[in-house]
Amino acid sequence: MTGSSRPGGEKGAEALWAEIDRLLESSLLPEDPVLSSALAESARAGLPPIQVSPTQGRLLQLLARALGARNILEIGTLGGYSSIWLARALPEGGKLVTLEIDPRHAELARQNLERAGLLDRVTIRRGAAIESLPRLAEEGLGPFDLTFIDADKESTLEYFRHALALSRPGGLIVVDNVVREGAVGDPGTRDPSVRGIQRFLAEVRRMAGVEATAIQTVGSKGYDGFLLARVPS
Ligand code: SAH
Ligand code: DHB
Ligand code: MG
Repeated sequence: MTGSSRPGGEKGAEALWAEIDRLLESSLLPEDPVLSSALAESARAGLPPIQVSPTQGRLLQLLARALGARNILEIGTLGGYSSIWLARALPEGGKLVTLEIDPRHAELARQNLERAGLLDRVTIRRGAAIESLPRLAEEGLGPFDLTFIDADKESTLEYFRHALALSRPGGLIVVDNVVREGAVGDPGTRDPSVRGIQRFLAEVRRMAGVEATAIQTVGSKGYDGFLLARVPS
């Protein structure tokens, strides 16, 4: 497998994490032409390669299935890669709403979801998430069993507050990118994305009844983390 390399050895930690992700993918995940072509089309269109990794996509899918989620909200669609993982977890009649500000991303996501045969259960809502979110309840689109927050990190706290209000009691909210190579621990950071996560983390535990944890992750996307929060019943 890794030959003579050791963690942190001459190979470098990042290369090892990526190699182990490939091992886990080939051990645990079936070959999937639909997901592969979504990645290939996204790369061909020049989208940034910042979608969840395959093992992370599977984690989102497993969480959705374990919850029996029928109604899922995603904030930040990109090319629809995580949307495909999540939408495939839906039972008959289930729905995913995914919010995307960039029209090019939204159009590519539409094509990828169409190829995946999932457009019957997915709504891609174009525009700034902060404007779409208040409309979802008015339009009767909630409550959501599961929300995946993965858009601009500056607004994570606001998205989380909306997600709480839109969730069913006992629902789950997952937030991507809460560690950012450890930058989240730097109180002097000027990176607005990292500051957005810090601002969010400073507030979560003050939210009555919200039970949250975060898991640090390494892999093909480097060193980052997920936050998971249960909405009070
Ligand atoms: N969840 C995707 C990756 C999302 S990347 C996946 O794993 O496959 C983040 C996305 O959020 C980008 O497509 C970006 O255009 C979008 N985004 C950024 N700011 C936004 C905003 N204010 N409202 C809605 N979407 C936004
Ligand atoms: C970036 C955004 C993401 O959502 C992610 O998972 C990784 C990187 C970024 O903007 O760099
Ligand atoms: Mg992300």
